[in-house]
Amino acid sequence: MQPLRAVKGMNDVLPGDVARWRRVEQTFERISAGYGFEEVRTPIVEPTALFVRSIGDTTDIVEKEMYSFVDKGKDALTLRPEGTASAVRAFIQHTVYARSPVTKWSYKGPMYRRERPAKGRYRQFYQLGAEVFGDPGPHVDAELIEMLVRFLTELGARDVEVRINSLGSGETRKRYRDALVAYLTPHKEALSADSQRRLDLNPLRVIDSKAPQDQEIARGAPSILDHLGDDDRVHFDELRASLEALGVPHVVDHTIVRGLDYYSRTLFEVKGRGGQLGAQDTICGGGRYDRLVEELGGPTTPAIGFAIGIERLLMIMDDAPAADRQGIFVLSASPELRRDALVLLRDLRAGGLMADGDFRGNSLKSQMRRADKARAALVMILGEDEIAQKSVQVRDLQAKSQEAVPRDAIVAHALGALGGAA
Ligand code: HAM
Repeated sequence: MQPLRAVKGMNDVLPGDVARWRRVEQTFERISAGYGFEEVRTPIVEPTALFVRSIGDTTDIVEKEMYSFVDKGKDALTLRPEGTASAVRAFIQHTVYARSPVTKWSYKGPMYRRERPAKGRYRQFYQLGAEVFGDPGPHVDAELIEMLVRFLTELGARDVEVRINSLGSGETRKRYRDALVAYLTPHKEALSADSQRRLDLNPLRVIDSKAPQDQEIARGAPSILDHLGDDDRVHFDELRASLEALGVPHVVDHTIVRGLDYYSRTLFEVKGRGGQLGAQDTICGGGRYDRLVEELGGPTTPAIGFAIGIERLLMIMDDAPAADRQGIFVLSASPELRRDALVLLRDLRAGGLMADGDFRGNSLKSQMRRADKARAALVMILGEDEIAQKSVQVRDLQAKSQEAVPRDAIVAHALGALGGAA
């Protein structure tokens, strides 16, 4: 029978790689907690309407990429393509805004988009995200970007660049929309079918299109930064000055519009420059979404956030130094001693030690090979003589020493030898 395989674009992470994932997740947890963020966990499945209303019905994500289905109760559901909409829904549903004027949430987990799989582009991928509700910026915007850069630096992510832009708000958006439609309309025939359809509905999507013929035309489009109203200009200038004050290098890039409709004012992306990422070079995307909470039925609440793609980050970060030997491996000199090994292992683990053994009845030599492969720090050998003398041979693979230790002192001995942290 043909063995079954994982769904295309969805990956297994095997134990050998999990240590790197954990390092990323734990570093993010520690750093974000240091900036006042608390973790939130929301469902992977949400009502389809949540994403249609927040991300926008003329975006690629909603039009083409969502895993949507009708369940047996006839509810229209979708596997979340991103985390912001869910965070906003939870923020409103639990009246979190009533508890504190500013709420800082972080999250991590799988997201689903039915894109064409490629290096760095998957159908199930993982994000680390952060959202701040209740502060209109721009100082919190700068603080968030500084946190992001600190996180990437700590992981040794090389060759990354922060790019920022402003989408403006209110009047700015209307003026820019008109300027964009005026620029794009004479090019209409040359645009892709999607962009022709979106030109009047949502001209920003034309600028963000992935189709080569659209990108060519988008290059000549007017810059939103030339259309910023006074308040939007002050906001953007103060963001830049705050980033300068924090010593965060950044580049202004007026071509960033991002692929989701909920943004206004601050936008940013982090891109890899080193070429390790190929075409999918955006590691992180984020921005302000000052109208979204209200649009989804909550009170007017300014907000900003970002999400990092973990798989892409893993491609550019430094490897941690190889882990030291750790824990204990118990060997039994003959198959008859396996029950003694079992009891010894139980006692070691009950003492808080990390321990493993081999019960297959193999030769000592083969058990020793397994102990070495498991990178154990101590090997404990049970033989007939040791059982008779109520002792255990303990070999320290780092110090390269061996001694007999009384069986009833073995846990204390191991805790001492491994420095308590087994
Ligand atoms: P996004 O730009 O759609 O933004 O995704 C953020 C990051 O997720 C990307 O920069 C990329 O690293 C990763 N990513 C996206 N799609 C894929 C994929 N198919 N395969 C692998 N990685 C991918 C958002 O999702 C917003 N919710 C960010 C945000 C939070 N804005 C405000 N708050």
